[in-house]
Amino acid sequence: AANGNKAAKTRNIVEKMDETGKNCVVFYGSQTGTAEDYASRLAKEGKSRFGLETMVADLEDYEYENLDTFPEDKVAVFVLATYGEGEPTDNAVDFYEFITGDEPTFSESSEPPLGNLKFVAFGLGNNTYEHYNSMVRNVTKALEKLGAVKIGAAGEGDDGAGTMEEDFLAWKDPMWTALAEKMGLEEREAVYEPVFGITEKEEFTKDSPEVYLGEPNKMHLEGTSKGPYNAHNPYIAPIAESREIFTVKDRNCLHLEIDISGSNLSYQTGDHIAVWPTNAGKEVDRFLAVAGLLPKRDAVIGVKALDPTAKVPFPTPTTYDAIVRYHMEICAPVSRQFVATLAPFAPTDAAKAEMAKLGSDKDYFQEQISKKYLNIAQTLEVIGGSEPWSAIPFSAFIEGLTKVQPRYYSISSSSLVQKNKISITAVVESMQIPGRTDALKGVTTNYLLALKQKQHGDPHPDPHGLTYDITGPRNKYDGVHVPVHVRHSNFKLPSDPSKPIIMIGPGTGVAPFRGFVQERAQQAKNGDEVGKTLLFFGCRKQTEDFLYSEEWKDYKEALGDKFELITAFSREGPKKVYVQHRLEEYAKEVNELLQQKAYFYVCGDAANMAREVNIVLAKIIAEQRGVPEAKGEEVVKAMRSSSQYQEDVWS
Ligand code: FAD
Ligand code: 2AM
Repeated sequence: AANGNKAAKTRNIVEKMDETGKNCVVFYGSQTGTAEDYASRLAKEGKSRFGLETMVADLEDYEYENLDTFPEDKVAVFVLATYGEGEPTDNAVDFYEFITGDEPTFSESSEPPLGNLKFVAFGLGNNTYEHYNSMVRNVTKALEKLGAVKIGAAGEGDDGAGTMEEDFLAWKDPMWTALAEKMGLEEREAVYEPVFGITEKEEFTKDSPEVYLGEPNKMHLEGTSKGPYNAHNPYIAPIAESREIFTVKDRNCLHLEIDISGSNLSYQTGDHIAVWPTNAGKEVDRFLAVAGLLPKRDAVIGVKALDPTAKVPFPTPTTYDAIVRYHMEICAPVSRQFVATLAPFAPTDAAKAEMAKLGSDKDYFQEQISKKYLNIAQTLEVIGGSEPWSAIPFSAFIEGLTKVQPRYYSISSSSLVQKNKISITAVVESMQIPGRTDALKGVTTNYLLALKQKQHGDPHPDPHGLTYDITGPRNKYDGVHVPVHVRHSNFKLPSDPSKPIIMIGPGTGVAPFRGFVQERAQQAKNGDEVGKTLLFFGCRKQTEDFLYSEEWKDYKEALGDKFELITAFSREGPKKVYVQHRLEEYAKEVNELLQQKAYFYVCGDAANMAREVNIVLAKIIAEQRGVPEAKGEEVVKAMRSSSQYQEDVWS
C-alpha cells in the first residue's frame, strides 16, 4: 500500500485479468524475494512454453472476496513462503487470515464458493523449523475445503536441506503436464520474449536531477524523504558509532549504533532492523563487464514493462550502473533454470552447449556452479571465457535476478535505555570455498564493515578490493549513513519484569539478549523488582569471540544475583561444550523457573542449535518432572503455543 500509484488500480483480480486479457495469475507470498522470483519464473514459462496469458500478483495488492467469480477457464497459481514460526509472509497475512478464516465471505453466495477455481500451489519452507511449509499446506487445505480444484500435487521446497531450487524444478514439470492437460494447452517451442523494454534516454546525462542513481523512490530523489519508513521507503540513518567487537584472522563481528532520532521510527526491545545493502563495486564491475555493459554503464535508460501487469522493480530513468549496484541481487546463488534461459544468448557455440548442459543436468550444475558458490557474473565469466555476453537482453537480467533484499538483524539494544539508537551485532560473512582463491563475501555485512572502516579512517581498509560505494547516490550518504527500517517482532520480554527469563543465545544469537539484559539492568536501577535472568552464551574461545565480555560485568553489578551468565566455550577443551550441554547442568533450576512461568527464549542458528535446545529442554522437563519423554515434548509444544517459549532464529 506504500506505493502511492497503487490506489487508483483495481483490487479485483478477476476484473484485472479481464481488463488485461490474462488467463493465469501467479500469486506470491514472499518475504525475502525467492517466492516472488519463482512466481515470475512460472509466469514466464507458462507464457513461453504454453502460450498462457500470465500475470504475477502480489497477494497484498488484491482482495479475495471475488475469488468466487474466478472464471472456470482460467487458473490461479499460488507460490507461498512460510515465514518464521509457520507464519504467512507480511504480504500474505490478509489473504491467509481471509482464506483460512472460519467463514470467509465471498461476493456471491454460490455453493461451494470456489467451485470454479482451478489452482496450482508451491510452498517454500525450511524443514529445520517446527511448522514446515505450513503456509502452502494450510492454504491448499482451505482452498479445497471451499471447493477449489487443485491441479497436480502441491509442491514443497526445502531451504533447510538446501534443495529449494531443485525441489522447485522437480515439481514444476509434472505440474505443467497436468495443467496443460486440464486446460487443453499445446506445448510449443519456447521463445524468449522480453518483459521489459529498455530505451536509451539521450536527453539526460547521469547528472540530470531527474535520473535515479540508486535513490529508492521519488522523495529520496528530490531530497524530501519523509516517513513512514518501511519496506518500501528506507530511512537513511546516520551511524552514530561503529566498532569491531572481535577480530580474529578472517572472522570479525561488528557492533553498530544506528541513530533514528528525527526519523519517527521507533522500536521495542526484541524487534528487528532491516539494512538495505549496496553491492560491492568489484562485483558490479564484473557484472557490467561480462554483460558487455561497461562502456555504457552510465548511459541513462528508461525501463518500461511491455506487459501491463508487470512492475519495473526500480525507479527510472536510471543507469545500468545504478540498477546493478543498488537494485539487483547479483551475488546470490545462480538458478539452473536461469542458466538454461540464457543459453541461446551465449557468445560462442561452445558456451551455448555448456549452458544447455548445465541447464539440463542437475548433478553437473551442482558440481560446476553450486559447489563453487558462483554468482551469475562469475558463471558467465567461466563459461564465456574472455567473450562478453552482449547478446543477453538486459530485460532477461531484470526478470531473472531478484531485486536487492534488505537483511534483518535482531536489535541488540533496549528501547528503554536508548530509544533513539538501535544497536546491531553482526558477524561479517566471509567463507573460504574449496577450489576458489577468493572468499565468498556476504553482501550486507561486508558493506557494513566498509562503512565502519570509512568512519574510522582505517589505515588498511578493504584488503579484498571490494570497493563499496559507501557515499550512496550522489554522495548523499556521506558522513556515514545506512538505509534502514524497523520490523516489529513478537520476540518480547514479559511485560512484568519480575517474571524470570531464560535465554539461549550462542554466537550472534546473543544479540537480542544484550537488549533484554540491558533493559532489565535499567529496570533494576529504576528500582523495579526484576526476576531471575539466566543467559546461556556460547562461542569458540573466551579470548577470541566472547561477545560483550566486559559489558556483562556492568549488568551483573546492576542486577546482582538476579543475573547469571552461563558460558559454553566450544573450542577450549578436548570436547565441544555447547549451550545445550550447560543447560542440562542447570536442569533442576531451569525446571523450577519454568514452573514459576519463566519465559524461555532461543536465538541464533535455526539449523542445528535451536532444534537441539528444544530436544534438550523436553528431556529436562521429562526427567525433572518424572514423566515420559513424549510428555516433555508436549509440554514444550504447549509452551510454544502460549508464547512461553519464543524463538528468533535464522539459517
Ligand atoms: P549474503 O550475501 O546474504 O550471504 C549469506 C549466505 O548466503 C552466504 O554465507 C552463503 O551461505 C549464501 N550465499 C551467498 N552468495 C552465494 C552464492 N553465490 N552461492 C551460494 N550461496 C551463496 N545476523 C547477524 O549477524 N546478527 C543478527 O542479529 C542477525 N539477526 C537476524 C534476524 C533475523 C530474523 C534473520 C532472518 C536473520 C538475522 N541475521 C543476523 C542474519 C542476517 O540477516 C544476514 O543473513 C547475514 O548477516 C548475512 O548477510 P550478508 O548480506 O552479509 O550475506
Ligand atoms: P563450534 O563452532 O566450535 O562448533 C557460536 O557459533 C557457538 O555455537 C560456537 O561456539 C559454535 O561451536 C557453537 N555451535 C555450533 N554448533 C552448535 C550446535 N549444534 N548447538 C549449539 N551450539 C553450537
